[in-house]
Amino acid sequence: PERVFSGVQSTGNLHLGNYLGAIVKFVELQKSHECLYCVVDLHAITVPQDPIALRNNTREIAAAFIACGIDPRKNIVFNQSQVPEHAELAWVLNCVARIGWLNRMTQFKDKAGKDRENASMGLLDYPVLMAADILLYRATHVPVGEDQKQHLELARDIAQKFNNDFSESILRNGYESGVFFPLPEPLISGPATRVMSLRDGSKKMSKSDASEYSRINLSDDADQIAQKIRKAKTDPEPLPSEEKGLEGRPEANNLVGIFAALSSRAKTDVLSEFGGANFSSFKNALVDLSVAKLSPITAQMRRIREDEGYIDQVLRDGSERARAIARENMNAVKDIVGFLR
Ligand code: AQP
Repeated sequence: PERVFSGVQSTGNLHLGNYLGAIVKFVELQKSHECLYCVVDLHAITVPQDPIALRNNTREIAAAFIACGIDPRKNIVFNQSQVPEHAELAWVLNCVARIGWLNRMTQFKDKAGKDRENASMGLLDYPVLMAADILLYRATHVPVGEDQKQHLELARDIAQKFNNDFSESILRNGYESGVFFPLPEPLISGPATRVMSLRDGSKKMSKSDASEYSRINLSDDADQIAQKIRKAKTDPEPLPSEEKGLEGRPEANNLVGIFAALSSRAKTDVLSEFGGANFSSFKNALVDLSVAKLSPITAQMRRIREDEGYIDQVLRDGSERARAIARENMNAVKDIVGFLR
């Protein structure tokens, strides 16, 4: 059976990139799949976090999930640290993954910066924990943004190596196919798999960008959204009427992609409407669209956020349901690896 898993870190404000690259897909997939959506707080501490802010950010992401339309009764919505099997499986997978594989990860290189020796061990190990998140539920599909593609490939490599290393034991334990972990497939599609900074079309929109004007946050009000879009970097040419006219115009490409994703249209379709228009009129349309789509979410997030008891209960319930699956699969891993229990 197909099963979807994905996670979002509890590190501050969600932005339009997180929304269009991931959460919109989560909402869609719940219609057809069994889904687990996780606030990955263990991943968050790979860089320093203030403990009070971390707890609040975990609630903030859970509220955002629900406000965006994820139904916590139908899906399993939980936070990673309440299911200790994530860390437990990560240890086993640490002994499967190779140091060389992790050293090649571009996110680690970017986040560790020049002083790599001083990065946390957790930051290097981040993709192994991510593999554990997915494989713990033997998930088959993982909706993510383009930036997570390399980590997904690593998760597949780890799953494959585990299946190979333990193939005899897997068979002996009754898995007749000889395969214990399915190889998870990334789901990366649509016009906004990599939303770029509004200030620089060559950088991805990111929480850690120093400029507030680089991103639209799900918590922004209509005025902030309008200001940020109006100030967004563009080029002097009018919009092209065909998609190939966006080549070499990263800022234009980004805004058109955002428009397309927010209106559930293809980029070509958007360009057939706005081709030849100048940016000021296109930006006005984008402001209206963004405010219309995001304001109800922002308002709903605020309402949900006020009821901390409710959010905590959702996460506790979700964690229990996740744990029931996690425990069973972790026991199987223990038997396969040869741990006495
Ligand atoms: N710019 C983006 N475009 C499309 N998808 C994106 N995602 C993140 N940025 C973009 C996707 O959002 C999901 C959750 O990501 P995360 O919790 O790992 O957040 P992040 O990647 O830490 O977010 P940032 O803003 O990129 O943080 P920093 O600044 O720390 O690097 C994932 O599916 C991700 O692909």
